[in-house]
Amino acid sequence: MPKIVVIGESGQLAQSLRALHWPSGFTLALHGRRSLKGNLEADLLRDVLRTEGAHLVVNAAAYTAVDHAESEPQAASALNARLPQTLAAACAELDLPLVHSSTDYVFDGQKGAPYVETDAPNPLSVYGQTKLQGERAIEQAGALRRWAILRASWVVSEVGDTFPVKLLRRARAGEALRVVNDQWGCPTVASDLARAIQEVALRQLDGEGAACGLFHFCGASDMSWYGFAERVLAAAKKTGLKPPPLQAITTAELNAPARRPLYSVLSCARIRQSLGLSAVAIESDLDRMVRSILAR
Ligand SMILES: NC(=O)c1ccc[n+]([C@@H]2O[C@H](COP(=O)([O-])OP(=O)(O)OC[C@H]3O[C@@H](n4cnc5c(N)ncnc54)[C@H](OP(=O)(O)O)[C@@H]3O)[C@@H](O)[C@H]2O)c1
Repeated sequence: MPKIVVIGESGQLAQSLRALHWPSGFTLALHGRRSLKGNLEADLLRDVLRTEGAHLVVNAAAYTAVDHAESEPQAASALNARLPQTLAAACAELDLPLVHSSTDYVFDGQKGAPYVETDAPNPLSVYGQTKLQGERAIEQAGALRRWAILRASWVVSEVGDTFPVKLLRRARAGEALRVVNDQWGCPTVASDLARAIQEVALRQLDGEGAACGLFHFCGASDMSWYGFAERVLAAAKKTGLKPPPLQAITTAELNAPARRPLYSVLSCARIRQSLGLSAVAIESDLDRMVRSILAR
């Protein structure tokens, strides 16, 4: 009975992995803060993997609060840099494949064209720096035979305090909707990312070498956050919501604590060509997602 251990429990990706249909006989065990009780030490993680009888590990845990990370670099580093390093060592020791998730924020956004996996990262924020350290720890864990890293961008779902959830909360409350129009990326539906990770995981368990390495995976449409907000509000209007007008602002006007890349569109050519995987455009799931958020 193949057992997948997912690190992370309540987050978007962890919940999407749980919600997927897995081949018969596969089981999933999710371990987040509740079961690990904040202990991310090597001994404990190794014990968890042994006790669960893990066949493969997916790391869906991360410190994703990009602005807070600027004032909590140690907490961000513990989750984004040290946890992948510890997991890589544990997986190497137990000879388990490790599938890890990372971010477009490892790039500085200056390229002006979609980023490929061989482009040099240059993170602008503590979040991006610590995520890059996590990637490097996995890549450089020499004894780890099988690993994959999927870099995604702008991951959204109805779980947690995501961009569409926050936007619709403000829209319902009649608050001002000011959204940056000069940061471009590709929103990725969390369930889509989960499906790609599942596919990579299953192929690693089948011993497929092409499923190892660094991959970019994101939604098929590029847009600004403002353009994304327009689409979310258009979907919300179909349900009868009458939101306040949307105002475009610049990154400089927003003056957020963390710097973000202005253009972090990822090229997904590698994962498409080597594994036949491609993400859908965000628009295809937006009506359902918006209805689900508004139904709460
Ligand atoms: N969100 C985005 O926009 C975005 C964009 C690009 C890439 N990514 C990447 O995608 C991946 C998934 O992100 P997400 O959006 O699903 O994040 P999320 O919704 O913020 O969830 C964070 C996850 O981390 C777990 N976690 C936090 N502290 C933990 C601890 N001390 N011990 C164990 N687990 C802990 C949480 O589990 P519990 O709450 O159950 O403890 C939760 O499952 C991450 O690698 C992230 O860097 C995200």
